[in-house]
Amino acid sequence: MRISRKMEHVHYALELGQSRRQGLADIKLVHNCLPESSMDSIALATTIGDLVMRSPILINAMTGGAHETARINRELAILAREKGLPMAVGSQMSAIKNSEVASSYQVVRQENPNGVIFGNLGSEATVEQALRAVDMIEANALQIHLNVMQELIMPEGDRSFEGMLRRIEAIVRHVSVPVIVKEVGFGISRDNAKQLQEIGVRIVDVGGYGGTNFAAIENARRPAASALEWLNDWGTPTSMSLLETLSVYPRGAVIASGGITNALEAVKALALGASAVGMAGVFLGVLQKEGTEALHRLADDLHQGLILIMTALGASTVEALSDCPVVIGGETAGWCEARGID
Ligand code: FNR
Repeated sequence: MRISRKMEHVHYALELGQSRRQGLADIKLVHNCLPESSMDSIALATTIGDLVMRSPILINAMTGGAHETARINRELAILAREKGLPMAVGSQMSAIKNSEVASSYQVVRQENPNGVIFGNLGSEATVEQALRAVDMIEANALQIHLNVMQELIMPEGDRSFEGMLRRIEAIVRHVSVPVIVKEVGFGISRDNAKQLQEIGVRIVDVGGYGGTNFAAIENARRPAASALEWLNDWGTPTSMSLLETLSVYPRGAVIASGGITNALEAVKALALGASAVGMAGVFLGVLQKEGTEALHRLADDLHQGLILIMTALGASTVEALSDCPVVIGGETAGWCEARGID
């Protein structure tokens, strides 16, 4: 059941694509006509918590658990190794429940022995399962995903969400690697960020609305007569979720994701104060529709694009991008005003 669901997620993620209504069009970078910079002296390395990464672009959690997903994970892991990208695997719960499928995750570590790799589980996980997920792939950090609305729309999904914070707190206390709490495309609010900070979570990935849409994906998996399509626009767009979260968490603690598709959108998120950006659907789409070479070109184009824009802005490091002036307009400005976020 779970294994075919994983390939259905891949199928519908590709078919439905990304809306790109992540709110980043509301963010304007202020042009710098005297940047005093050179493309040769731009550094793309970044730090999240204690994790040092060669690139601020994270291949975000997608898959594992079936034969076809092992191929996808292998291709992504080779990309991560060749281009120095941090990478997360998809939820490892299927391998915790059935060790026969663990190899579809372990391939990521085999292909990239020295890379920065994140494990992934849902908030239903126990401490023991979290420890096993980290061991399984020698993870450098563990993502815990939050996906309440996806579960509610999923016909076979969870219906009770009690005890999430308590379980995450236990995992943070007992796992030796950093724990990253992430949404899957519905966003994290300021209030949620405070709750997570209070239980000791030091890194969050906002996973905002506007990219891969798990409400739409689960609706596509439901019989048409019972689809809840009126929920397809549910969620806080990435720009707004990022500003909510950054009003709680300090620089160096926040990953922006949800609908980020190119270097300009990535720079906007970094200029707002994120320290890395996660991309999932775009990497999957290029790999599945155009193949390995195009996937590697995409990573090169993203890095070249980042270097170009950072040169133009006079920001020689990812950290320096957060000092570049930005103007926030449109719906994002209205949202921040309504929510009292500076
Ligand atoms: C995902 N995502 C995801 N996230 C997670 O934490 N655990 C998981 O198992 C999965 N599985 C998954 C499968 C597929 C096919 C896709 C495309 C995505 C969510 C992903 O990490 C990310 O949060 C969202 O896709 C939003 O980012 P993009 O795709 O808009 O860049």
